[in-house]
Amino acid sequence: MDKSIQDFFESFSVAADKNEFIQLTLGKPVKLSEIINVYIRKVELKGKPYFSFKYRYHSRDEVKNFLFEEALSKISDLLGNVFLSAHLFTVAHDFQLHFNKKRKGRFSQLPPTKIPSGTLSHNKEKKRFVETTNNVYLQRLGVVDQEGKVIKSRQDKFKQINKYIEIVDNLIKQAKLPEKLHIVDMGSGKGYLTFALYDYLVNHCGRKVCITGIELREELVNICNEIAELSGFKNLKFISQDIHQYSEKQIDILIALHACDTATDEAICKGIVANAGLIICAPCCHKQIRKQMKTHGEMQAITQFGIFEERQAEMLTDTIRALILEANGYQSKVFEFISNEHTRKNVMLAGAKTGKSRKQESAWSEIYKLKEKFGIEYHYLERLMSK
Ligand SMILES: C[S@@+](CC[C@H](N)C(=O)[O-])C[C@H]1O[C@@H](n2cnc3c(N)ncnc32)[C@H](O)[C@@H]1O
Repeated sequence: MDKSIQDFFESFSVAADKNEFIQLTLGKPVKLSEIINVYIRKVELKGKPYFSFKYRYHSRDEVKNFLFEEALSKISDLLGNVFLSAHLFTVAHDFQLHFNKKRKGRFSQLPPTKIPSGTLSHNKEKKRFVETTNNVYLQRLGVVDQEGKVIKSRQDKFKQINKYIEIVDNLIKQAKLPEKLHIVDMGSGKGYLTFALYDYLVNHCGRKVCITGIELREELVNICNEIAELSGFKNLKFISQDIHQYSEKQIDILIALHACDTATDEAICKGIVANAGLIICAPCCHKQIRKQMKTHGEMQAITQFGIFEERQAEMLTDTIRALILEANGYQSKVFEFISNEHTRKNVMLAGAKTGKSRKQESAWSEIYKLKEKFGIEYHYLERLMSK
């Protein structure tokens, strides 16, 4: 068997074995194939793990479920014969296998781009991470009514809260963290997500957790502390402070969700300096790089359109953030946090401290090249880190 195919199956088997498999997509069908794609994911049927194959035809989908050995044999029949590309998504890496015209395979390993969706259950019932009955904070924040029913106009918010807990739960499971956690949520705002995370980790998972919310606006801090007390969340407190002034040395998880522009950089910097095991942020407005960014040549054909210029600046800002995390021994992931229909601010950047990241040596040179290409004098996080 071709070495590239062997490597691919080895990676697939390891991911399945370690429970790190997320999805496999077979694509680039040969000319006469009736099937356009096969999407493979893991499901649980009657308590057993199966691989669910969704065969996509031009006008219909067909789903078949196979146990591991059978799944391997089906993939092996399809790869290189019906499909000339495979994209394997796992928790640790993405892997690609491409066949050229002579059907010679090329295998590559890439940084991970997906995170597991949390539940294997085949039925579509959505798992709720947050209980709504007798939930004081959700009532006080106007998300549910007295009976614990989600208020119609707040259904998106409730979905967002659950999705967020699902994602953070997965990130925590994959990171190297101590038993007892100090989590700092910078720019905590009204605390929707802070309360839900505390509730989930302490009351659902039984973990020993202290959470501190840092928020500039004193009126929000007062409300949040009041709700924390009413909820009986004794290790959750909110402090009215600028992120910049936060000086506590011990941070295990640093969170900054939609903290404005460079406040995200201030927060990431605090996390790196405190050697936090996990840094999670959802960047918000991206003004600092956009003001400096200059594009040349063909790029101008793209950035002449305001919306694309904005997106380019966002990508550049967050790529440099991800690379700075890598340069400091973090494994960075960038992925969609919630679907686009709710908000465009849907990118999440997570860094897990691994000691040595895959890009530790090359990260700075990639950053310098990007800065040079886009005429960037400095990235705010870079400047903070050099202080
Ligand atoms: C868009 S809200 C997000 C709130 C919350 N994290 C969420 O995702 O629901 C951003 C919050 O960050 C706060 N903030 C912005 N810059 C800050 C800073 N430098 N220090 C502390 N809080 C800050 C703002 O006051 C605001 O409440």
